[in-house]
Amino acid sequence: MRIPIIAGNWKMHKTVAQSLEFVDEILPLTAEIKGVKVVLCPPFTALYSVGQRLQGTHIEMGAQDVFWADEGAYTGEISPPMLKDTGSKYAIVGHSERRHQLKETDEDVNQKVKSLLQAGLWPILCVGETLEQRQAGNARQVVKEQLEEGLKDVDTTGTDLVIAYEPVWAIGTGVNASSEDAQDMIGFIRQELAGKFSQEMAERVRILYGGSVKANNIEEFMSQPDIDGALIGGASLQAESLAEIARRAEGIVNG
Ligand code: 13P
Repeated sequence: MRIPIIAGNWKMHKTVAQSLEFVDEILPLTAEIKGVKVVLCPPFTALYSVGQRLQGTHIEMGAQDVFWADEGAYTGEISPPMLKDTGSKYAIVGHSERRHQLKETDEDVNQKVKSLLQAGLWPILCVGETLEQRQAGNARQVVKEQLEEGLKDVDTTGTDLVIAYEPVWAIGTGVNASSEDAQDMIGFIRQELAGKFSQEMAERVRILYGGSVKANNIEEFMSQPDIDGALIGGASLQAESLAEIARRAEGIVNG
């Protein structure tokens, strides 16, 4: 049984004070939610404070990126042990904004995945095609390569990871993928994982959809058999909005 994840990726938003205000607001709003896991991904600067505030609560935390070395002369970078130290359980890797704006490669993503697993943290590995790639009929091929490269030589025994399918054209545009198209790709990702790793692993891994998820479309996604939750940008910035998404997701799980 895969417990779905509703994760908020705040991207480059919120000071420490704003992050803590959000946490204080969302904790009571989600206190009764049992069927889905709520995860917050604040910016690096707020991780420690948010981690402290979330200790012993029902909400988990992730970072938005990581560097693959444990320590060393890497100015500006943050390592897996440093993230662990803040109370993070997850880290997003390979987000399309990093792939496209910061020129992150599949090889970088692969090193990040490995270093996280080694530190006992869960990668949230993002994959997804651009509009041009979809229109050319290459969406599956692109996602397959991102998966293959991102998970190259990864040993998943005894570890866990999360995949997020985020079509680039649906991120921050208000144009979400249809739940059927998202299911089609996410089902394909699960098949690929079964082939590359094992059936057991493919059935265990949670695969999220991301891209213009809101309270009014989460139920469609959650009703699909292979979609195990969502990675949410814009609609995760207000506590009431994220809580409403989590409540509706739970409604489908329990319905
Ligand atoms: P939006 O929900 O704002 O489209 O962003 C999705 C996303 O990139 C989550 O990582």
